Amino acid sequence: MKHIYQKGKDPSRPTLLLLHGTGGNELDLLPLAGMIDDQASVLSVRGNVLENGMPRFFRRLAEGVFDIEDLIFRTNELNDFLDEAAQKYEFDRHSILAIGYSNGANIAASLLIHHQNALSGAILHHPMVPRRGIELPDLTGKSVFISAGTNDPICPQTESMELESLLTRAHAQVELYWENRGHQLTIEEVNAAAAWYKAAYLGGE
Ligand code: MLT
Repeated sequence: MKHIYQKGKDPSRPTLLLLHGTGGNELDLLPLAGMIDDQASVLSVRGNVLENGMPRFFRRLAEGVFDIEDLIFRTNELNDFLDEAAQKYEFDRHSILAIGYSNGANIAASLLIHHQNALSGAILHHPMVPRRGIELPDLTGKSVFISAGTNDPICPQTESMELESLLTRAHAQVELYWENRGHQLTIEEVNAAAAWYKAAYLGGE
């Protein structure tokens, strides 16, 4: 997969896996990585699917209606890519924190739902429930931060709460953060994610 890898100063930090929104690319979220942890290695990936020229991480049939077969195929493809990247760049495969926005948050949630060992945790900005009706793996020990907008036309409030409860029932530690805004990624929610990360990963450093 097309990507950027930046080796961090502190190899004990998780590798930050950046996953952009629809129409974005691997450059978009690089500034976020620095705000979450400027010592960590960064792996930023471009989605392999094109929708009218816009990169995405999996196909959709309509807005908010996912092509489940492609979602599963692309989730496995990304998981395999993480295996290869960890070998190539020599980072700890068991210590990857995904940071995704919108479509990127959805594929990150799909990694958590389908592959128990894909991620150690995730920051999900405006995610949806990627898939329903399947049994989730035991996510004990995984930390997840979800930020959502109370007026998000793409992700209704019920969707964010459903994802929170799905992951919590699978024993993940989940924090749900609300903004009185829409689907846009705000500086306030990135700051909230950074504070959550410091408490969850760096012991409040
Ligand atoms: C998706 O297709 O993943 C969601 O609708 C969010 C987006 O617009 O990318």
